[in-house]
Amino acid sequence: MTYNPLGKKIEQSKLKEGSTSWKSPSNIALVKYWGKHGNQLPRNASISFTLDTAHTQTEIKFYPKEDNELIEMEFFFEGEKNIAFGTKIRNYLEGNRNYFPWITQLALIISSTNSFPHSSGIASSASSMSALIMCLMDIESQFQGEPLSVKKASFLSRLASGSASRSLYPQLSIWGAHPNIEHSNDLFAISYENQVDSVFADFHDDILIVSAKEKSVSSTAGHKLMEENIYASSRYEQANHHLEELIKAMKKGDLKTFGEIVESEAMTLHALMMCSNPSYILMEPNTLNIIREIRAFRQRTNHPVFFTLDAGPNIHMLYPSDLFDEVVSFTEEYLLAYCLDGKIIRDKVGQGPKKI
Ligand code: DP6
Repeated sequence: MTYNPLGKKIEQSKLKEGSTSWKSPSNIALVKYWGKHGNQLPRNASISFTLDTAHTQTEIKFYPKEDNELIEMEFFFEGEKNIAFGTKIRNYLEGNRNYFPWITQLALIISSTNSFPHSSGIASSASSMSALIMCLMDIESQFQGEPLSVKKASFLSRLASGSASRSLYPQLSIWGAHPNIEHSNDLFAISYENQVDSVFADFHDDILIVSAKEKSVSSTAGHKLMEENIYASSRYEQANHHLEELIKAMKKGDLKTFGEIVESEAMTLHALMMCSNPSYILMEPNTLNIIREIRAFRQRTNHPVFFTLDAGPNIHMLYPSDLFDEVVSFTEEYLLAYCLDGKIIRDKVGQGPKKI
């Protein structure tokens, strides 16, 4: 597959000031992307639920400026100028200016807020990068008069953060080439909406916050450690096999197999961290306490309630919507004590980015 959506300059006479604002969700991987190569290419295919509540809202105000080939931008996070994240965005734009040649014709003021608390330990690169890209794509579309391409937005989000490529579509997204999944490819994610049993259309994901500390090892560093991990090649095979089996189970509405695969993916991700060189652990004691409680609850009730983990200590508790009331009581009785200040984000499968 080749896809290289290079951009073009804006016609001088069309330049004018304006603004755009987008809200874009986070996502939770069911089969994990862990290991990459080249320019943000995944070592295996991954699939995720698009979330609803956990999102970033970004606004870009733009003003015409002299095209001196310099990028002019300022970045504000939660109302305050943020140099670290601003530098990350600037580096991204510098490195990818072929896709945004018009970026030097406009001065940008970018402002972002997250729906989840800043220090909740929730991964924000997927929502923040996809929200930023949707704004940039919208500016391009306003000036070029062409409809915004979600495929291009996914491609450009991937270049910013791999998992961000999957936040662009409703319900379910797949990123990474898989021999048995039509249209799947490494360059951009594809939608998998409405292709599985309807029980997953409004699946719940309660994010149990165990710790809000900054991760000791970033995802980018974690991906890099996979290059030397002795289990890497069998992991990539396992992931592709899991994806195929997971999709079959989801099509049938087979929640038991769904849960087995999703939990195995979470455990494998963290096992890979533990056996990296240097080894590291991102789970906390309360991560294990919650896993134990969820498994015990499942055994007691036979209810399909499962967990998964991101690259961090917080638990994503996944279950069908009809169990909501029961899971809320279970959470209050058994899990709340393990959460940092009782913090839980009650999320569910969502519909993808929205223009504000
Ligand atoms: C564990 O997308 O954050 O959440 O491409 O370096 O930005 P970069 O990595 P990132 O990695 C996410 C890893 C994961 C699994 C997943 O979301 O698939």
